[in-house]
Amino acid sequence: MGTVKSKNSDLSVRIGRIRLKNPVMAASGTFGYGKEYKDLIDLKKLGALVTKSLTLKPTQGNPSPRICETSSGMLNAIGLHNIGIEDFISEKIPYLKRIKVPFIVSIAGGTIKEYQKLTERLDDLSGIAGLEINISCPNIEPRHKSKLMFAQDAGLTYKVIKEVRRKTKITLITKLSPNVTDIVSVARAARDAGTDAISLINSVSAMAVDIKTMRPRLANITGGLTGPAIKPIALRAVWEVSRKVDLPLIGMGGIMDWQDALEFIICGATAVVVGTANFVNPLAASEIVDGLDNYLKEKRINNINKLIGKLKI
Ligand SMILES: Cc1cc2nc3c(=O)[nH]c(=O)nc-3n(C[C@H](O)[C@H](O)[C@H](O)COP(=O)(O)O)c2cc1C
Repeated sequence: MGTVKSKNSDLSVRIGRIRLKNPVMAASGTFGYGKEYKDLIDLKKLGALVTKSLTLKPTQGNPSPRICETSSGMLNAIGLHNIGIEDFISEKIPYLKRIKVPFIVSIAGGTIKEYQKLTERLDDLSGIAGLEINISCPNIEPRHKSKLMFAQDAGLTYKVIKEVRRKTKITLITKLSPNVTDIVSVARAARDAGTDAISLINSVSAMAVDIKTMRPRLANITGGLTGPAIKPIALRAVWEVSRKVDLPLIGMGGIMDWQDALEFIICGATAVVVGTANFVNPLAASEIVDGLDNYLKEKRINNINKLIGKLKI
């Protein structure tokens, strides 16, 4: 006898003021500005997409080689190569608005002032569902005094998110780094400063060496590790933060299929983000939506929210 499936399952979730029709999003930096994937995937299937992180001015990023494959993952040191906020507004936003999927704009700066300016500029515009504050890129050097990534210090995280919060009412998502001793304290600082949600994790600082040339594989020497190799690290981060910080969490790190996505949801993620998998299979995010939908139907669970944080311990 075949499995009896229930008719309807509700996949929708809420992140701050953003309602997503399903919890699957495309990750910043792995999905361009949306349009690049339009012929490969039905973008309407996504719950939301997050743009490549934007800086005030266009930047060329780091020298090549800036990506390489590693065991169960990849390294990148792109260095925030992006078109800059003004070209994004004039060239990309009109298309993003037309696809009718919530889009979240990721921003990155070297100083608090830069984050403020980026936020002010975007706050004037209509159609943006949320801002993801990338304070955790391991491949650029911050230009404030301590030279730490903002997300490596709870005090700096508080300051930057507080200043951004002052500038906008748009839903704010703070993106955290795994390259810290205590991610919970940083998450708490972001919450206290007024973030609406937390996304985690950004890439893990790492490196690779070519023994023939005896050189690092990346021109930048170090880079950020992503893909299946980091999934256990990401799950641990989501789990720890979910127990201590009562905010919606957006989990990512090595999600390749719906089973991976479900692990994150069970550990406390309200939504999940697909990154490196897009390079292997551009349909990954769309297949994950179908996989979660089938799972709910087969298990006769009528609402995905019932699974969030249901880890049995
Ligand atoms: C090539 C590449 C570029 C990335 N660029 C950004 C970026 O601009 N901003 C950002 O917040 N994260 C960036 N990330 C990190 C991803 O958004 C995500 O946090 C990370 O890849 C972990 O998810 P994954 O293992 O599914 O890829 C980038 C990742 C990759 C692989």
